[in-house]
Amino acid sequence: MVEEKIVVVDFGGQYNQLIARRIRQMDVYSEVVPYTVPLSELAKEDVKGIVFTGGPNSVYLESSPRISRDVLALGKPILGICYGAQLLAHLLGGKVEHADDSEYGSTKLFVEDSRLLQGISKETDVFMSHTDYIATLPQGTRKTSFTKHCPIASFEDEERKVYATQFHPEVEHTIEGQKILENFVLDICNCHQTFLKSSFIQDQVRAIREKVQDRKVLLALSGGVDSSVTAALLSKAIGKNLTCVFVNHGLLRKGEAEQVSSVFGPMDLNFVPVDASALFLERLKGVTDPEEKRKIIGRTFIDVFRAEKEKLGEIDFLAQGTIYPDRIESGLGISATIKSHHNVGGLPKDIGFQGLIEPLDHLFKDEVRDVGRQLGLPESLVDRQPFPGPGLAIRIVGEVTKEKIAIVQEADSIFRDEIRRNGLQKRCSQYFAALSNMRSVGVMGDFRTYEYAVVLRAVETDDFMTAKASELPYSFLSHVASRIVNEVQGVNRVLFDFTSKPPSTIELE
Ligand code: XMP
Repeated sequence: MVEEKIVVVDFGGQYNQLIARRIRQMDVYSEVVPYTVPLSELAKEDVKGIVFTGGPNSVYLESSPRISRDVLALGKPILGICYGAQLLAHLLGGKVEHADDSEYGSTKLFVEDSRLLQGISKETDVFMSHTDYIATLPQGTRKTSFTKHCPIASFEDEERKVYATQFHPEVEHTIEGQKILENFVLDICNCHQTFLKSSFIQDQVRAIREKVQDRKVLLALSGGVDSSVTAALLSKAIGKNLTCVFVNHGLLRKGEAEQVSSVFGPMDLNFVPVDASALFLERLKGVTDPEEKRKIIGRTFIDVFRAEKEKLGEIDFLAQGTIYPDRIESGLGISATIKSHHNVGGLPKDIGFQGLIEPLDHLFKDEVRDVGRQLGLPESLVDRQPFPGPGLAIRIVGEVTKEKIAIVQEADSIFRDEIRRNGLQKRCSQYFAALSNMRSVGVMGDFRTYEYAVVLRAVETDDFMTAKASELPYSFLSHVASRIVNEVQGVNRVLFDFTSKPPSTIELE
C-alpha cells in the first residue's frame, strides 16, 4: 500500500523517531530501521531516500555502529544527521576528529550556497549536540554552512546525492529545520505527499475486508485512543462481523465506563461490556506490592477475556490497537530501551485465533488521533491523555479498596475539571490525582480528623520517558486543594508532586 518511503537508519540517537515524525508531517511515509538493516532492503524501489540518524558514538572507534560503504552505490539520496553526517564523511574518505569541548544547544548557522539549505535564511538558529566534528571534507564534496565553533556544519555532493548536517534539523530549536527536511524529502528525493491524506482509511478498510472476508474479529476495547480508533475503523470495514469486548476492571476514571458505552453502544458493532470490577477487587484484596498488583490485573484481564471469547463461539481474528511506537519500543530500533509496561490491552497471541489484525501499527499517536477524528469519534475520546492499563490501581499506593477508588475518582475528576476550566491542558502532558497511603491528622469544624492525603501529579513531557513537573499557578493549586478537601469524603490533605522523572516516575507505582 505504501508506494514511496524515506527510511531512517537508526544509529542510536535520541531524536530518531522525531525524524520519521517530521517526514510524515509532510504526508510522506517514513519508517525507522536499525543500522543492521540488509542493504537489499534499502535498495528496494519504494525507498526514495535514506536518513542516517545521530548517535552517541565516535565513527573512528572500531566498536561504533557502521553501515557498509556499498550503501553509497545504491544511488539513493542520503541525508546524514550529526553522527550520521560524520559517518557519511568517514565513508567518503573525510576526517572526523574529537574536540576538547562539546557544542550543545542553539547556535547561529551561517549558510552558503546549497541545495539542501535552499531558501534558508543566511543566518539561522540551529540545534547542535556533538563533541566530534568533521575536520576534513571528503573529496568532491563542498561545505555549505558553518558556525562559530564548527567549521563544517554541513556539506553536500549533488552528483553522488549525499547531504549532511552536523546540526539536528528535526529538533524544534532548529528554526528552519522542517524546511531543510522538506528540501531533502520533496525536492531532492522527489517524494509525493500522498501518505495518510485521505487514502489511509479507505486503504485500510479495503485491506481489512480482503483479509477477513466474512469471518469474525474480536477486539479488546479499553476505551483508550488506540483501541477506540481500531474499533471505529474495523466497524466501518466489517460491521457486524466485529465484536468488541470492553472489560471494566473497576479501576477506570470517573464516568469513563459510561462514556465508552455511550460512544460504542450505538455503533454498528457487537459491543459487549463486561463489568468484572468485583472479580478484580477480590483478587487485589490485601495485595500491596506494585508489581504483584500489575501481574494480578494482567492475568485477571486475560481470564475474563478468555471466558467471554468462549461464550461468543468461533472467532477467527484478534484485533489489537498496536501503534508504531509500541513496535519501535519493543525492539524495532536500537535507541530506545524503554521499560515494558503491563498493558491489559496486550493479549497473548496464542489464545486460539487464526490471525492478528493491527491496522494502526504504522501510525504515530497524533496520526491515530487524526484518523479517529476523520472517523467521527468525539474529541473527548480522541484527545485523551494516556491512561495506564492497570488503571487507578497504580495510582493508589498500597492496597486497593472500594473506598480508595472512590476517593481517587472524585479527586481526579475535580482536578481534571479545573485544569480544563482554567485552560491549563497545554502545560500538562499528563495530569491526575492519586492517593498516597498516608493518613494524617487534620481539623474540620471543631473536630479532629484522621484521613488520607491526595497527591496531585501533572507533568510535561514529549516522550514520557523523562518528564518534569508542570508549573501550575500557586493560586490554582490551592483552589483545587480546597475543592478536594471540601468535596471528597475521606481526604484532609492535598499534596503536589514536584519531582521529575527520573528519579521519580510519572505514575506513583
Ligand atoms: P511511568 O510511571 O513509567 O509512566 O513514568 C510512563 C507512561 O506510561 C504509562 N504507564 C502505563 N501504561 N500500562 C500502560 O499501558 C502500564 O502498566 C503503565 N504504567 C505506566 C503512564 O501513564 C505514563 O504515561
